[in-house]
Amino acid sequence: MPKLPKKLLQKLEKRREENAIRTPSLHSGAIDFSSNDYLGFAKNGKIKMAAQSIMANQDIFNGATGSRLLTGHHALFEQLETLLATYHNAEDALVFNSGYDANLGFFASVPQRGDLVFYDELVHASIRDGITLGLAKSYKFKHNDLEDLAGHIERSRGKGSNHGQEIYVVTESVFSMDGDSPDLKAFAAYCTEKRLHLVIDEAHATGVFGNGKGLASELGIEEQVFARLVTFGKALGCHGAAILGNLSLKIYLLNFARSLIYSTALPPDTVATVLSSYEHLASEEGKKTVESLHDRIHFFLQKKREYGLQDVFLPSDSAIHVAVLKGNKRVKRCAEMLQGNGIDVRPILAPTVPEGHERLRICLHVFNTKQQTTKVLRLISKFHHG
Ligand SMILES: Cc1ncc(COP(=O)(O)O)c(C=O)c1O
Repeated sequence: MPKLPKKLLQKLEKRREENAIRTPSLHSGAIDFSSNDYLGFAKNGKIKMAAQSIMANQDIFNGATGSRLLTGHHALFEQLETLLATYHNAEDALVFNSGYDANLGFFASVPQRGDLVFYDELVHASIRDGITLGLAKSYKFKHNDLEDLAGHIERSRGKGSNHGQEIYVVTESVFSMDGDSPDLKAFAAYCTEKRLHLVIDEAHATGVFGNGKGLASELGIEEQVFARLVTFGKALGCHGAAILGNLSLKIYLLNFARSLIYSTALPPDTVATVLSSYEHLASEEGKKTVESLHDRIHFFLQKKREYGLQDVFLPSDSAIHVAVLKGNKRVKRCAEMLQGNGIDVRPILAPTVPEGHERLRICLHVFNTKQQTTKVLRLISKFHHG
């Protein structure tokens, strides 16, 4: 086989030297404190059976057969988009193949040349990649810092003629590598007052906040948000995503979002699973599952205080808790120690996070017991306090 070009081999070598080479690993059977399956829906038998019974009435079983705009569109998509709009209190919804595709398609096509995009410095790679593909100018503001954003906006408005210019502000309701949240109410009020288009990535708030409906719903600010991203690969335990917004935004994206137009649609069984997962989430049992997740989160916070780990962990009331241990080697050592104790926790290394901010990312799930949670924190405390 032809060899990898020398320049690429050198890049790989550099990654190895920095202790930052990425490799997929098979699930070891260790206790899951790492996946995004916060509600345990990925292994929920009722959801699987419900999806199978939906599929029993379909005449296409395997592949979607084409893009949504050709032969890949089917009745289940319409059913799901109606459910999503109602459940999340939005005018409409458009399903994409993944959250990555949705962010890519949205940010590459919605902000136009001459428009401005202001994004939190820690937004997900998919948002950054979408912005890079688009033609608008973009600026980052300090993490969760509304004052810094306002300073940028004032300066940009002071620069003379901006006739017809649209301004987009992008943040996440739960940051994927930090687990924290901005003051979304304040962001929404500011954006409404200044007539800016607020876009919120709710990937890690979907299924967790607002009884599962997301943080925008919990705060009652849906009407003030131009677009929300919800994803199905995290708390919903499936795959795919949707942009929530008004009907014209949906029609626009169907016509201009290239990641949707030029890619084979999700297969029907995936859409059936997402439908079943949402139906379960909205049921009494689903609501109780979300409440149990919050009980687990409260228990974790209480134990974290007991072990004197407040200064190691970033503040969070989401399912994501992050211990900043600094240095790829140190974080890897701690993760290996936990893995050696039967706990699946992954290190997040530079360059995924900036140097000096390397961390352990702990995801809490409804199925994590109090004993397991206590064990994780006891081991981290021993590692950290020596
Ligand atoms: C904040 C955020 N947005 C978007 C995505 C992408 O979603 P998906 O995994 O469905 O592509 C992720 C996934 O890691 C995420 O954390």
